[in-house]
Amino acid sequence: MNVIRTFEDYQEQYKKSIEHPENFWSEVAGNFYWRKKWDKVLEWDFHKPEVKWFQGAKLNITENCLDRHLTKHANQTAIIWEPNNPDDDAKHITYQQLFEEVCKTANMLKANGVKKGDRVCIYLPMIPELAYAVLACARIGAVHSVVFAGFSAKSVADRVQDAGCNIVITSDGAHRGEKTINLKGIIDQAMESCPGVSCVIVKEYLKSGVPMKTGRDVYWHDEIQKVNADCPAEEMDAEDMLFILYTSGSTGKPKGMVHTCGGYMVYTNYTFKTAFQYHEGHVYWCTADIGWITGHSYILYGPLSAGATTVMFEGIPSWPDWGRFWQAIERHKVNIFYTAPTAIRSLQQAPLSFVEKYDLSSLKVLGSVGEPINEEAWNWYDKNIGKGKCPIIDTWWQTETGGFMITPIANVTKLKPAHATLPLPGVQPAVMNESGLEIEGNNIEGRLTIKFPWPSMARTIYGDHQRFKETYFSSFPGKYFTGDGCKRDNDGYYRITGRVDDIIIVSGHNLGTAEIESAIDEHANVIETAVVGFPHDIKGQGIYAFVICYEKPTEEEKLRVEIKDTVSKIIGPIAKPDKIQFVSGLPKTRSGKIMRRILRKVAEGDTGNLGDTTTLLDPAVVDEIKAGAL
Ligand code: WT7
Repeated sequence: MNVIRTFEDYQEQYKKSIEHPENFWSEVAGNFYWRKKWDKVLEWDFHKPEVKWFQGAKLNITENCLDRHLTKHANQTAIIWEPNNPDDDAKHITYQQLFEEVCKTANMLKANGVKKGDRVCIYLPMIPELAYAVLACARIGAVHSVVFAGFSAKSVADRVQDAGCNIVITSDGAHRGEKTINLKGIIDQAMESCPGVSCVIVKEYLKSGVPMKTGRDVYWHDEIQKVNADCPAEEMDAEDMLFILYTSGSTGKPKGMVHTCGGYMVYTNYTFKTAFQYHEGHVYWCTADIGWITGHSYILYGPLSAGATTVMFEGIPSWPDWGRFWQAIERHKVNIFYTAPTAIRSLQQAPLSFVEKYDLSSLKVLGSVGEPINEEAWNWYDKNIGKGKCPIIDTWWQTETGGFMITPIANVTKLKPAHATLPLPGVQPAVMNESGLEIEGNNIEGRLTIKFPWPSMARTIYGDHQRFKETYFSSFPGKYFTGDGCKRDNDGYYRITGRVDDIIIVSGHNLGTAEIESAIDEHANVIETAVVGFPHDIKGQGIYAFVICYEKPTEEEKLRVEIKDTVSKIIGPIAKPDKIQFVSGLPKTRSGKIMRRILRKVAEGDTGNLGDTTTLLDPAVVDEIKAGAL
């Protein structure tokens, strides 16, 4: 039921999901194990805002991700763990083994005082214990707050304090390519401002001999020995909290997005199976870190609840060389591969021989997430990785949405490069103009909102419902505002044009940064671009482009003219950049997003105070960019 195999199926299911959302979702939800079924499918009010799915239902998500697969698939691989160093062995963890590890870990947490509803901070590298810890929390009804293990001590401390965690799980270190990172050192520093934390569980991984604080720190291997693998799942309400995940946003303190058990489970499972057209036996690999929502929803909960084999990769795409992803695809015969445009663009720069060395014939479906994928990267991915026969699933969604919203369905939706295409069943987009009215019809452009709830939407910002309301439900009362701009073309296809805060208004025309960037990237010598606006006497705003080239331009002026011509041809003369600065890198956050705030300051000529740059991947590029400002 609710299976989509053709475009007609999609249209039929979509229609049903809009006309009878409660019937539609209760049918989808019928595919899970509930201790008790719901009394009411949906109750909602976007003005409060309040959203409740499957009220009255009782479940534990781990029974759906683990227990229910044991009858038929106990010996099937649940997780393939691919280590940082390709010379080390991969681990194949079966559903039976994963179940036992999760139960033991859950008992270890209980033995260290964790109770239902407690918040647990997890600061671990991409090792199997990270998956065990996340699922162990879910098993006993504790709320996990995974903090990406690349964040600074201050970032961890802010998140631990905000969530009121009293326990932290970390390791004595992490690999990152050829480097190691002392995670425990970062936690020790963070804990100086987190007196509420009474226990730190340390997984000994690098065996680096970190100092342990008596009375607070315990070793995972000591604690796990004291418990058995018998851990009945805690019975949860559908609307009980499952996890908190912090998302930075461009300004202000991070927002702890709250996701709940029932709706999140139903939606991540449904969207995983539908968009990727997952079939039993497929090997699936999402390259994200579990520290982001992509890892939560599409490395762990979605694939595991579907009984899939999911790859968990500890390493980075560039080490020991640029063939690392392709080597792992060959090694594990990956069928579905899901990565980010930022990774694709960096891999695109390496000689093709790194791709050609490996057998990628197992691939059936490719995915992309995190930002709009520019056409050049799309074509490169399609041609060299998919060999022209794998659909590219460009999934538009957000930490706040919990799961895919607008995305092609593999082999069902006709693709258009750089377009996220069509909403999944249950998703009701509304494009709004600046005066707050919905723009009907096609061939239009505006701000993207969603006018009806979907099961995995965030329910609140932890501890700050008012901020939740102001951020997402106030710009367009009665609708969820995504913060993104979009176009809807004559086929009804959506193209995300970037964050509306980044929109540039040139002579009264709205221009999305993503679209201009994608056009500039079409030039043969351009790898990646970031554009921002700057004050312009005549046009209101001018366009300033920061451009990374394959080869350092010898004649910069000539290249500038060519780039402007390229943009003119693709979008029109209005979008031609006024200034083009060639750079060797761009300021990016650790999840790969360009920090346009910094570039805007440079473009405005205001480089005195660039604000906080500590969360940047490579703060050094900022100095180069400042020095070369036009
Ligand atoms: C923002 C959400 C969703 C998980 C990873 C990022 C941008 C994301 C796409 C896409 C165009 C995209 C949007 C969105 N974005 N995917 N396929 N096409 N834009 O999660 O950090 O919460 O960021 O990323 O601007 O609002 P996030």
